[in-house]
Amino acid sequence: MSRIPLIAGNWKMFKTVDETVKYVKELRGLVKDIQGVEIVLAPPFTALHPAAEAARNSNVAVAAQDMFWEREGAFTGEISAHMIREAGAEFVIIGHSERRTLFGETNTTVNRKVLAAFAAGLVPIACIGETLDQRERGETFDVLDRQVQQGLDGVSAERIGQLVIAYEPVWAIGTGRTATSDQAQEAHAHIRSRLRQWFGPEAAEACHVIYGGSVKPDNIRDLIVQPDVDGALVGGASLDIRGFAEIVTKSRASAA
Ligand code: PGA
Repeated sequence: MSRIPLIAGNWKMFKTVDETVKYVKELRGLVKDIQGVEIVLAPPFTALHPAAEAARNSNVAVAAQDMFWEREGAFTGEISAHMIREAGAEFVIIGHSERRTLFGETNTTVNRKVLAAFAAGLVPIACIGETLDQRERGETFDVLDRQVQQGLDGVSAERIGQLVIAYEPVWAIGTGRTATSDQAQEAHAHIRSRLRQWFGPEAAEACHVIYGGSVKPDNIRDLIVQPDVDGALVGGASLDIRGFAEIVTKSRASAA
């Protein structure tokens, strides 16, 4: 298995252009010698292009936090995958639980976005995960199955191999309550077994399944050593540059 750990910082609605450029310039210095980890930062749309410029020729890549599936048109307030690509991003987060619960996103809209992202040359980071109620009712695997099956409908096996899936149990996001490494591994192994079943063994082996939900410098190591945890989507802890750099450092294959 040769999946390089991928650590993505999801800043959500934080940081101005000024703060972003300062952060990226400092981070690229801190991580310049780190090999064997893919490092991604997702600033707000306004800072996307400045972030990509500040990260140019470094080992830091940039992601958008959302996108719309049409290329252009009368869609006030929306941003297309093509525009995101042109701004210098390589990745796009799709279907984050905050988008699902606060902005009405569904597995169907996630699917349209995933297909459009790939068509524009972006790598989607597709987010899935159960709520606390669903977990307590024993529905976790059913929920994940629906999110994977409907969200990835029509995606080719080849593209599944390039995809990043972020497993983010909703009850662990921003709550300080991380899934245990056993809970994470169990969910990730389940997701990968479904990918194997639906898209074939090669796609399942190549696809990154990363964990999100209160990831911090002091819990990343336990998570990253799990065989099916291929990295992390880090929210709150990515706003602090030292903490984020520490998470990156601790995720190196050699460190694990
Ligand atoms: P958190 O957020 O690390 O602050 O829990 C994770 C996410 O929302 O992607």
